[in-house]
Amino acid sequence: MQVLKKFFDNNKNWAAEIKKGDPDFFTKLASQQSPEYLWIGCADSRVPANEIVNMLPGEIFVHRNIANVVVHTDLNCLSVIQYAVEVLKVKHIIVCGHYDCGGITAALENSEHGLIDNWLRHIKDVYRFHQEEIDAQPNEKARLDRLCELNVVEQVANVCHTTMVQNAWKSGQPLAVHGWIYRVSDGILRDLNVCTTSIEEISRIQRIA
Ligand code: CO
Repeated sequence: MQVLKKFFDNNKNWAAEIKKGDPDFFTKLASQQSPEYLWIGCADSRVPANEIVNMLPGEIFVHRNIANVVVHTDLNCLSVIQYAVEVLKVKHIIVCGHYDCGGITAALENSEHGLIDNWLRHIKDVYRFHQEEIDAQPNEKARLDRLCELNVVEQVANVCHTTMVQNAWKSGQPLAVHGWIYRVSDGILRDLNVCTTSIEEISRIQRIA
């Protein structure tokens, strides 16, 4: 008996459906990938990158982790950014957070969750940077929503501060870093308007001349 047979059946149907629209779709994809977008999103099953923006395989390079965090020393995420920027030469990096993020909620709690608490400390840092604004929100839901948004804003900055992104800008490579947020309860994506496209837009202390 095939394990998880449904997955293989679904896959066959999906591939056939795509080939109906474009018989050469997969053979063309096999020769190369040239996505223009890098998506850094949450691992949450309700926020699948390609699906929510209705894009096909080959269009978005994707990195996901809990609460869409870009940590200065995370070799996994940094390697993805390096490959996307230096080899694929993506034109856009999108940090996409979402409301009702379990990672954000857990980070605002004082209970112990195990190993993940060490990861969530990066979110607690975001809270610490913006404590006054978050605490001023009228209720718990508004506090969580605002932390979800500010976490995206901070991760956009972290992407911009990487040597890879700064070097791309220095060499004149067009590259925009965007911060978006998705609402699971209505399926709608919102732009947080923090798009950054040049080294002049980042704080002086972070610039590597
Ligand atoms: Co999440």
